[in-house]
Amino acid sequence: MNVKELYQKTDGWLDSFGREERSLIAVLQAIQEEYSYLPREVFPYLAKEMNLNEAQIYGVATFYENFSLEAKGKYVIKVCDGTACHVRKSVPILNKLRQELKLDDGRKTTDDQLFTVETVSCLGACGLAPALTVNGEVHAAMTPEKAVALLAELRREA
Ligand code: FES
Repeated sequence: MNVKELYQKTDGWLDSFGREERSLIAVLQAIQEEYSYLPREVFPYLAKEMNLNEAQIYGVATFYENFSLEAKGKYVIKVCDGTACHVRKSVPILNKLRQELKLDDGRKTTDDQLFTVETVSCLGACGLAPALTVNGEVHAAMTPEKAVALLAELRREA
């Protein structure tokens, strides 16, 4: 993490969105869009620039599900576990991916930063169940075997 660059970019977003408390979410969104997560180094900087305390910022960052404090992999795989996908056996797909990548519920990103595996409650693609997305792209009618093949394909691509 290049902290100097992080601060410079954050300054730009603060200039655009403003340094008032009501701009906090917009600034956090911009940071997350750029880095795919919220680097902790930015909290003290934001606190100083926005005249807030770090606990307030941390509270907002942890309240909204879309914010992540953890660096994510190059490929973010979201396995749907909504009702339609669950009844069509999404859990074995999730388990297979985690087993292949040595991940679990508390450890979502591989050490080589290639893969992050998360669950979501519905991808809005229930007709394609069981579904998962890779960096937002939907993969339909998945099985554990197809998920393993997909990992191999992504590894080749990387
Ligand atoms: S329940 Fe899986 S896409 Fe809706």
